[in-house]
Amino acid sequence: MPENPITIAIDGPSGSGKSSVSKQVARRLGLSYLDTGAMYRALTWWCLQQGIDLTDSQEVAEQARTFPLEIGTDPDAPTVHVGGTDVAAAIRETAVSEQVSHIATNLEVRATMRDQQRQLIADARHAGSGIVVEGRDITTVIAPDAEHRFLITASEEARLARRARELFSSDDVQAIEATHDQIVRRDAADSTVSAFFEPAPGVVGIDTSDLTFEQSVAAVLDAVHAAPAHPPVHTPDDGGTR
Ligand code: DC
Repeated sequence: MPENPITIAIDGPSGSGKSSVSKQVARRLGLSYLDTGAMYRALTWWCLQQGIDLTDSQEVAEQARTFPLEIGTDPDAPTVHVGGTDVAAAIRETAVSEQVSHIATNLEVRATMRDQQRQLIADARHAGSGIVVEGRDITTVIAPDAEHRFLITASEEARLARRARELFSSDDVQAIEATHDQIVRRDAADSTVSAFFEPAPGVVGIDTSDLTFEQSVAAVLDAVHAAPAHPPVHTPDDGGTR
């Protein structure tokens, strides 16, 4: 096992830039990368394929426990397969984005995802230098003991414009309007089960509204380098406790 593996937990709302920043931080530090949102999206895709009613919480919870998900944690090629099918593109389509909150607000699904995500984190720490994990509840629920924890935010205006440019290559009025559901409505639904608008105690908040991508990456890397990854351990003769 490598010495002192680290977990960097990164939460934030849609369009805050956390995915691209998380991936780049993982590359720069030679860490694995886990996009937990992709897991909720993959389950949504699978249930839609199977014709399962997404509001049938028992059935969806059962699918979460058994669906054949394989997720790759290389930040240069973060793959998502379900039953051998590459779903990396399909899970970003509007049909999935519009429905995923039904899955993400199912508490039994969240418990299953929590266990799977913790296992993926443990595997990455065992096999390599550690992992960057991004989502909505990583700093608070999945890995509150992570060596580094960040909440990446941005104003609603900045988040809408970014996602509109991603989806429609434009941030004109029509594109913003078409993006509204995927940012504002979805975050409102998701925030009923996770707190990702305000940093929890001990979590470093980074507002990227006025930062470029490189500046956002630098803000995370600077904070990682500035903070001791492991709190100092007191030795018995300095009066502290282990
Ligand atoms: O980050 P994203 O848009 O790909 O996330 C997809 C959905 O999953 C979104 O509705 C929020 C939800 N999600 C969650 O509830 N908890 C996580 N750790 C990650 C994502």
